[in-house]
Amino acid sequence: MDSKITVSRLYNFLKQALSEHFPDANENQIVSRRIVNFLTGCDVSDIVTNPDKIVNPCADVNEIVDRVKKSEPLEYIFNSAQFLDLELFTEHSVLIPRPETEELALMILNDLKQRDVKPKLLDIGTGSGCIPIYLSTKFKNCDYYACDISEKAIATSRKNAEKYGSDINIFYCDILNYQDNTILNSLENFDIIVSNPPYVLDSEKKLMKQNVLDYEPHTALFVRDNDPLIFYRKITEFAAKKLNNGGKLYFEINEKFGKETLDLLTEFGFKNCNICKDLFGKDRMSVAEK
Ligand SMILES: C[S@@+](CC[C@H](N)C(=O)[O-])C[C@H]1O[C@@H](n2cnc3c(N)ncnc32)[C@H](O)[C@@H]1O
Repeated sequence: MDSKITVSRLYNFLKQALSEHFPDANENQIVSRRIVNFLTGCDVSDIVTNPDKIVNPCADVNEIVDRVKKSEPLEYIFNSAQFLDLELFTEHSVLIPRPETEELALMILNDLKQRDVKPKLLDIGTGSGCIPIYLSTKFKNCDYYACDISEKAIATSRKNAEKYGSDINIFYCDILNYQDNTILNSLENFDIIVSNPPYVLDSEKKLMKQNVLDYEPHTALFVRDNDPLIFYRKITEFAAKKLNNGGKLYFEINEKFGKETLDLLTEFGFKNCNICKDLFGKDRMSVAEK
């Protein structure tokens, strides 16, 4: 493919090259438009109203086509994912932020806005940093902390925080061994603890699409079938010690385990425990008060 071509030729080339991979014409169009946009900055109005516009793709078109055909998510190919109004850097060590996590972040924003005293928030398993970075751009009067077990994810979340000028203390922590973490132990109590921990069962792998299984980090996703709530139990135990009275614990959950999560929260003495549904009507979030 020439380095300089018309935008319509590029678009038609992509649609043709991806037609077998995306037999659904609508999906093919959407993906091809997104690739044109990434490569040239042109959007659909340019394709329609200015088809002969000469463009100079900023990356190798054939290489992108090959990666898409191998089911690599566009978010990794473009190193960019949308989270509410943020555009976050993404690479293979971080989960691509999901729409249900946007709902969780919005719920917490609502909580933050109702607090009189400057709160302190911890996000456990921060990945791209999507939750605290979004909150910090909307609500500045809060001390934000975030941790992850993946050093690469920590580097990526720091890069994203820097992009948005977010003042977030991001550090390494294996939450399953939180007792040994000197940073965590040195911090005063929190007002909000949030986590979207790994919650997909190993046995659910067979139901998942190849683009998730082959490209997203398995440490971010999977838990053993014999202990699906391992992260929830450990984080709830931690939160029971490290939340101020009246503080809140927010989880994103596996829709299968709403009742078990509630039982766990109650067992650790939390009150006002609730499960909330996502926009698809699935049990997806829990909230509980210390
Ligand atoms: C489902 S991802 C959530 C990422 C991000 N918060 C989001 O919502 O997109 C779970 C995250 O937990 C991290 N994680 C896995 N095991 C952990 C552990 N033992 N301690 C701390 N973080 C862990 C993973 O590296 C991953 O970033």
